[in-house]
Amino acid sequence: MPDHMPIGSCFLVLLSLVCCCDGTCPNMCLCISDAVSCSSTGLTKLPQFLPTFSITLDLSHNYIFYLGAGSFEKMPRLENLCLAHNQLTNMGEGVFQNASGLRFLDLSSNKLHVVEQQYFHGLWRLEELLLYNNKITQVESGMLNGLSSLKKLYLSLNQLTDFPFFTIQDNTHPFLTMLDLSSNRFSNLPWADIKALPTLVQRGLYLHNNSLLCNCAMYSMFWHWQVRNYDTLRDFADDHRCSIHGEMRASIKFLHHTQFFRNCTLEKPVSLPVTVYLSTVLVTEEDTISLDCQTSLKSTELSYTWLTPSRGYLTPASTNNSLITIFPNGTLEIQSVKVNDSGLYVCKAFDVKLGVNATRELNVTVSLPPPESFNTGYTTLLGCAVTMILILMYLYLTPCRCSSCKQPKPPSVTAYDPSSLSSVFTSSIRENKAYSDKHVAFLEPMMSPGVTEEWTQDS
Ligand SMILES: *[C@@H]1O[C@H](CO)[C@@H](O)[C@H](O)[C@H]1NC(C)=O
Ligand SMILES: *[C@@H]1O[C@H](CO)[C@@H](O)[C@H](O)[C@H]1NC(C)=O
Ligand SMILES: *[C@@H]1O[C@H](CO)[C@@H](O)[C@H](O)[C@H]1NC(C)=O
Ligand SMILES: *[C@@H]1O[C@H](CO)[C@@H](O)[C@H](O)[C@H]1NC(C)=O
Ligand SMILES: *[C@@H]1O[C@H](CO)[C@@H](O)[C@H](O)[C@H]1NC(C)=O
Ligand SMILES: *[C@@H]1O[C@H](CO)[C@@H](O)[C@H](O)[C@H]1NC(C)=O
Ligand SMILES: *[C@@H]1O[C@H](CO)[C@@H](O)[C@H](O)[C@H]1NC(C)=O
Ligand SMILES: *[C@@H]1O[C@H](CO)[C@@H](O)[C@H](O)[C@H]1NC(C)=O
Repeated sequence: MPDHMPIGSCFLVLLSLVCCCDGTCPNMCLCISDAVSCSSTGLTKLPQFLPTFSITLDLSHNYIFYLGAGSFEKMPRLENLCLAHNQLTNMGEGVFQNASGLRFLDLSSNKLHVVEQQYFHGLWRLEELLLYNNKITQVESGMLNGLSSLKKLYLSLNQLTDFPFFTIQDNTHPFLTMLDLSSNRFSNLPWADIKALPTLVQRGLYLHNNSLLCNCAMYSMFWHWQVRNYDTLRDFADDHRCSIHGEMRASIKFLHHTQFFRNCTLEKPVSLPVTVYLSTVLVTEEDTISLDCQTSLKSTELSYTWLTPSRGYLTPASTNNSLITIFPNGTLEIQSVKVNDSGLYVCKAFDVKLGVNATRELNVTVSLPPPESFNTGYTTLLGCAVTMILILMYLYLTPCRCSSCKQPKPPSVTAYDPSSLSSVFTSSIRENKAYSDKHVAFLEPMMSPGVTEEWTQDS
């Protein structure tokens, strides 16, 4: 034991030395466990020593105007770095080298002019990058290279006229769901590149409050997004303006005033949003069921078709039978339902003007009224087994094997047998090809409980 003492104390001395240099908290900052805050301390440059084990570093609201190469290389555990509200005009090459653990980087409200392509090299874990409210006029085309974990990129309130959309692809930025380019100076954009962006990026692309030029290519893209009801458009409908012939005074809110674009040929969406809601309906025989066809489509001029398990396709025109009605709002009403009306009902609402379909599914189970429904297959089976045992006991335990004795009757099997019923239905389903195709297509949403919504990807 005593032999180990010198080694142990040596280690302790070493440790305290390490702690002494690395653990120093710059006196203007606040250091708490793994976080350091030097916010609003009048710093003009980075403090020389910062705790090396910090995960969060807040340098916001200072006067830092430059960051050189390897500024954070002694902080390998750094994940969150806030440099908002400083005076940065540019940064040295390799400023974030050896800080590859960064996940959140806030450079908003500075004075950056150009986002150079080497600034963020190596930050493959970076998820959020905030660059809004700078003076950025140019984003170099390699800037996003290697930022493969990026989820959100904010570039709003800058002076951009151009952006390298083509560098964003499904396989390069699979998690990107927010690209904020609002309040910049875009007038014309490479619409073909934007149309080729992954659907998730298009869905989170903010372009409002720019000085766009009114033309069909521009309108066609926004029309696409509007049909899909993207939040980016809905939330900022009034801030989407474009100028006619580049004349700033003649600017229109183009999501409201669409008559200017009436001569544009708008391609019908290639693949459309399909909404599937699955709900369950339980009724007893002879009830009247009323199945509504409420989908995500809001237009009042929709046409409806119903696919039913027992009667095939139904349209309003084909239901002139008093027991079955399809109302103008799509609701299907069936009076006096039978057990064989059970199964999956699929309603398709179709908006002819927009070329959009939406689907609603309802799983209807019609059961027999209570007395009969008690006699389920399970109790019948149990009854059979008990009877069988009684017969065997009777045959083997009674001395007299009298052939004239009355055989006990097996319990009567009622008309309702769920297993045979379901097989009747599956076979009728298989006969209907369209139906079975549907069934496969919606298998996924059907398995999840409650209301599900599925968006198809652009091809
Ligand atoms: C930074 O990383 C390089 C290799 O990527 C390494 O050679 C260098 O020692 C690191 N610097 C520090 C201070 O950790
Ligand atoms: C629109 O952008 C300008 C700068 O281009 C900015 O000053 C203004 O605040 C923005 N307006 C809105 C509503 O975002
Ligand atoms: C649209 O076409 C009509 C005739 O087809 C024409 O009179 C009108 O000026 C065109 N509108 C625009 C905005 O080009
Ligand atoms: C369903 O059952 C009823 C009797 O319960 C019968 O009249 C009707 O024809 C059956 N319908 C189908 C589609 O099998
Ligand atoms: C609807 O009723 C008309 C006559 O009342 C009949 O000729 C037609 O076949 C019926 N259509 C269907 C689908 O039952
Ligand atoms: C549709 O119309 C029918 C008959 O007018 C009505 O009973 C039903 O409640 C309506 N359904 C919806 C969802 O509005
Ligand atoms: C939408 O439904 C209509 C009518 O059933 C059909 O003709 C059309 O092909 C459907 N479109 C898509 C994209 O599924
Ligand atoms: C419909 O409901 C029945 C009984 O609740 C269930 O057995 C069946 O799996 C359901 N079908 C679908 C497609 O959800």
